Amino acid sequence: MVTAVSSRWDVTDVAPKIGSAIRTDKETLLSGARAEEIREIMERRGVIVFPGINLTDEEQIAFTHTIGTFAHEAAEQKGRDGDFVYPITMDAKVNPNADYLKGAFYWHLDGTMADKPIRASIMSARKLAPEGGDTEFCNTYAAWDDLPEDEKRRIDGLKVVHAMWRSQLYWHPEPSAEELQRWMSMGSNVLPLVWTHASGRKSLVLGATALQVEGIGIVESEALLVRLRDWATRPQFVYRHKWTLGDMVVWDNTGTLHRALPYDHDSGRLMHRTKLEGEEAFA
Ligand code: SIN
Repeated sequence: MVTAVSSRWDVTDVAPKIGSAIRTDKETLLSGARAEEIREIMERRGVIVFPGINLTDEEQIAFTHTIGTFAHEAAEQKGRDGDFVYPITMDAKVNPNADYLKGAFYWHLDGTMADKPIRASIMSARKLAPEGGDTEFCNTYAAWDDLPEDEKRRIDGLKVVHAMWRSQLYWHPEPSAEELQRWMSMGSNVLPLVWTHASGRKSLVLGATALQVEGIGIVESEALLVRLRDWATRPQFVYRHKWTLGDMVVWDNTGTLHRALPYDHDSGRLMHRTKLEGEEAFA
């Protein structure tokens, strides 16, 4: 007797220029059978929500392996074997680097200190804050596409210095000299303001680590970076995810910015994140 296996697969857009929701079952997701389609949707739509998929940590790790190369968290990997999920929380007992994660409340993309930033992040809600704690994403491909042509001509080719310490100043504007030195030891990097991807598509490279546009004064540079961030985070380019326990969200780190919205740091809000290794250098 042949038993029919039903596999659910409903894909819908959640906002006009960013985000799709895929309603499916664990078996379909973990089989890897839809991996190519997931990668195609992630590239095209920036963000994929899997509402109520309820993957365990082990399942999230297995799923991550199906869609790319699993990226280890360098600092946390020391002395640990195998793959693990990374806890995003403000609770220093759960993540000793909780302070550093406060940069996540400001628009950013991950991996600007590397030449090849991580490809994607996968995040599941494990404990919610009673209030706040949504995650917002904006589509930096769409933001580039919709810029006026004269603005595109003006900014294409510009280079921007990015520094990790810049993003830390957002949450802690008066660090001690020692703290600043520690942040500065994480380095800096010069990146294109407009990333021309191997696909031929272009996206804006912005966010809290962007320190200064090369070759122009500090005032003009700051005005340009803030104006472009304002543009890229206009409502038409943004999807805001209001979490329900069991949701998992995958985002293309190379074509989006993201940020957490404020929540009580004592709330115990906990997200488990895995990542995909970078596949393409900034260019
Ligand atoms: C992140 O920036 O990776 C985390 C965002 C969040 O906690 O919502």
